[in-house]
Amino acid sequence: MRDKTKMDYKKWLRNKELKYRDNILYFADVSTIELAEKYSTPIYIINEQLIRKRYKQLKDVLASEYKRNEIHFAIKANSNLSILKILNSEGANFDCSSTGEIYTCFKAGISPEQIIYTGNMFTDEDFNFAVKNDVLVNLDSLSQLKRLAMVYDNLGKEKNAISFRINPEFGAGHHAHTITAGKNIKFGILDNQVIEAYKKAKEVGFKKFGTHIHIGSGILNPHNFDKAIHKYLGIITNLADTLDITFEFIDFGGGLGIPYRPEEEPLDLQVYKEIVVKGFKELVEKGGFDEPILIIEPGRYLTAEASIILAQINTIKNNGYKMFAGINAGFNTLIRPMMYGSYHHIIPCDISQEREKVTYDIAGPICESGDIIGKERELPELNEGDYLAILDAGAYGFTMSSSYNSRPRPAEILVNNGQSYKIREAETFDDILKHQIIPDHLK
Ligand code: LLP
Repeated sequence: MRDKTKMDYKKWLRNKELKYRDNILYFADVSTIELAEKYSTPIYIINEQLIRKRYKQLKDVLASEYKRNEIHFAIKANSNLSILKILNSEGANFDCSSTGEIYTCFKAGISPEQIIYTGNMFTDEDFNFAVKNDVLVNLDSLSQLKRLAMVYDNLGKEKNAISFRINPEFGAGHHAHTITAGKNIKFGILDNQVIEAYKKAKEVGFKKFGTHIHIGSGILNPHNFDKAIHKYLGIITNLADTLDITFEFIDFGGGLGIPYRPEEEPLDLQVYKEIVVKGFKELVEKGGFDEPILIIEPGRYLTAEASIILAQINTIKNNGYKMFAGINAGFNTLIRPMMYGSYHHIIPCDISQEREKVTYDIAGPICESGDIIGKERELPELNEGDYLAILDAGAYGFTMSSSYNSRPRPAEILVNNGQSYKIREAETFDDILKHQIIPDHLK
């Protein structure tokens, strides 16, 4: 029997602004069949209003508890300029992990003071770019401090604010590769180096300070933040007690998960707030803190559900043992299933004909047997030519795509108020080849 406490499937779809109208799948009130026919497939479709909605929901939750907060969108999740402009227009700030991401933000009209640069394994070139452009650096290793200070001195820039990424040792995430805290993990500095790091930062002339953690990605149970936050707040208290430091900001990182599977409930933002914001407020109210800005850095939460991939079935293969539905989007378009074994729900765009249920592996066109976007999916019998929607592709979808097998990346389409806009051209074969240089002796 169906568990009544579990969310009903239609509601689960509706939360992602998906619904069947006259048996045709609509996304943001636009027919997916019309989009597939107009723009051809494979294609990423992005829902502008859903991004705005997710941002506002999260902002309201934070602001209901603590006014001085900032949401820094982790642009590694989705770095399309139009998406950055949408979030910027909502008042978002931004988390960048590379100078390329900082450059992208500038191109979207985002200013340096809206950005925190949380890189790792920084080079001097990285520091030069950030310091020249007045972007705050969040250091990842004690050893990097000297080099960063030198870059400031060489460029004749005043050392203003700095932050360190602290590794609170308790991590979480949907896959081992997305857990980013723990003694064996490459990120951040451990408790035993924190005092030294900030002491040295003061000594070399930094005047303002922030702190940062990011414990992992794809966390749907907010209680998985408990231990890390507890430890983090303890480290900060100790830091404030030991050194005479006022904090400009305290950053809790991202990691907020989304319900990829129909049986999953959305992240409980109220519980998240209890754990993160209330813990932070208690710390601030204890004294010694001058109302620092509370920062979080979600990527996935803001954009994942706001995009689907439309793909077309080209091959139905019954090998006598298993059924395969072959589509024109593979791990070149969405690598998450192949890379992390991630589940992305896949649904037909047209359910107008009554069909029997059949179990398929939904396979992409890449020449590797791991190119399965959905394993053992029970779907109404599929035919060659049918369109499928692959859900929740708006975070780590396009940004992790590739042109492997010399397959050009697809276009991106934004839908808003019933209209659709191409916001990225599909690549061409020549785009894939354009940076190659043939030496004279091979011409
Ligand atoms: N802040 C920092 C410092 C991060 O490294 C990340 C993600 C975020 C924020 C945003 O995390 P989110 O809120 O999106 O969970 N490719 C993987 C996810 C890798 C995340 C890397 N860092 C995936 O497809 O699941």
